[in-house]
Amino acid sequence: MVNIAVFASGNGTNCENIINHFAHSSQARVTLVVCNKAQAPVVERARRLGVTAAIVPRQALNDPATMLELLSRHHVELIVLAGFLLMVPAFLIQAYPHAIINIHPALLPRHGGKGMYGPHVHEAVWKARDKETGMTVHWVTEQCDGGGIIAQYRVALSPADTPETIAQKEHELEMKYFPQVIERVIASLQRQQA
Ligand code: GAR
Repeated sequence: MVNIAVFASGNGTNCENIINHFAHSSQARVTLVVCNKAQAPVVERARRLGVTAAIVPRQALNDPATMLELLSRHHVELIVLAGFLLMVPAFLIQAYPHAIINIHPALLPRHGGKGMYGPHVHEAVWKARDKETGMTVHWVTEQCDGGGIIAQYRVALSPADTPETIAQKEHELEMKYFPQVIERVIASLQRQQA
């Protein structure tokens, strides 16, 4: 059984979807949600589903003793960033080699980097008149949105799309495919451990 920690900063629709997806799995489960904002809806979503939600402000996130103790107390082996807006500190990346992944709401390397999150990304896709958008799951490195790509899923756009409809189309991909990509990452982690 692989224990997953989901890191999130906001609404938490992905977090909820991932918790539910693995709720009856014999392969993995979400044992911890880490959120940097006490008021974020994701905190309530996690607690409602019976998952511990730890409030970890920036200062605590950057403190190795605090974070490593928290993650080891929950036996975390895989960290999934789902709308987490802080940079993951280098000590965590070193402590979890090839075990931290992030979802980005565009087809990286397009529309990535600092400041590109949530609605800003969909706005940029709309302004660029892109003919398609999509989601990217990638390894987390010290470079913002720069780690190796694990999976991408695409959806066509039309001139009638708005930032809101682009967001909706992309969100559907996240709900459908992100848990499946996490399953594949877990299977490869388990192969490495075997
Ligand atoms: C998701 O669309 C995710 O791809 C995006 O934030 C949203 C979080 O939604 N992440 C980024 O923009 C990271 N740069 P949620 O809180 O409802 O899961």
